Amino acid sequence: MSTKTVLITGTSSGIGLATAVAAARSGWHVIATMRDTAKAGALLEAGVTVDVRALDVTDPASVEACLAGLDRLDALVNNAGAGHVGTLEQESVEDVRAVMEVNFFGVLNVTKAALPLLRASKGRVVTVTSVGGVIGQPFNEAYCAAKFAVEGFMESLAPVAATAGVSVSVVEPGAVASEFVRNVGLADNALEQAGPYAPALSAYLERTRGAFAAAQTPQDVAAQIVDLLAAERPAFRVLTSDVARAFAGTKLKDLDGSAVQTLTSAWVA
Ligand SMILES: NC(=O)c1ccc[n+]([C@@H]2O[C@H](COP(=O)([O-])OP(=O)(O)OC[C@H]3O[C@@H](n4cnc5c(N)ncnc54)[C@H](OP(=O)(O)O)[C@@H]3O)[C@@H](O)[C@H]2O)c1
Repeated sequence: MSTKTVLITGTSSGIGLATAVAAARSGWHVIATMRDTAKAGALLEAGVTVDVRALDVTDPASVEACLAGLDRLDALVNNAGAGHVGTLEQESVEDVRAVMEVNFFGVLNVTKAALPLLRASKGRVVTVTSVGGVIGQPFNEAYCAAKFAVEGFMESLAPVAATAGVSVSVVEPGAVASEFVRNVGLADNALEQAGPYAPALSAYLERTRGAFAAAQTPQDVAAQIVDLLAAERPAFRVLTSDVARAFAGTKLKDLDGSAVQTLTSAWVA
């Protein structure tokens, strides 16, 4: 088999970094992209050979420049994303738009630009969404809206792309121990700022600390992404842990929405 090429977004840390390393070790030619290539240290220290390129998924010119000159692409891993925890009344519409820009339009920008190459190779698109793309979670309104949007986009694209020989999959982790929590943009004084929602936010944060105490490793998620890249018949949806499967399963069989409301209401009680 000739060496296949995969482009991965957001490889400066976490799942993207681990996926770049795992894919390179599995024999892929990895185009490891990040918005600031000065952050490539951890990737280069892993001792793998990868092609590090600058790519800010929110900037169409950056996407175009990154893909320019590529004559072959067998797979795209849309991994770049950023969490966001906030109280809707205290945040601005611009805050919410920024969350959509990186988590939804970023995925759209890169997928749209990569599809002609993926069609030519009969390749695949793997997008890291989240259990937050299946179940809306308290204080994650903007983040879950963006991940729901990605899920709807990919679920709709999958049968269309399949007609051109391109497979489309989503990967839905639960809590993963990465830089994600540090980057959710929660101010130190968020509880003071939360006004009438302070008790609910406090309960949510307490519950979330518990969930992240049992977080999955980025390497575990990465191994499943690399398996998906090589799978003969890639699944559309991969839930990456038993916790994620049980959680998302609540929704997937919750025909009137009551099971999810009961579950997440308990998080803020
Ligand atoms: N960690 C979790 O609990 C969890 C759970 C479910 C799903 N996810 C999803 O998993 C994916 C990876 O997150 P992670 O957990 O590995 O968190 P992470 O360590 O914070 O990694 C996020 C990556 O995305 C990059 N990124 C952010 N904005 C970008 C932009 N505009 N253009 C290009 N890259 C950008 C970051 O780059 P910089 O270093 O430049 O910021 C970083 O490399 C995300 O899509 C996230 O939503 C995470």
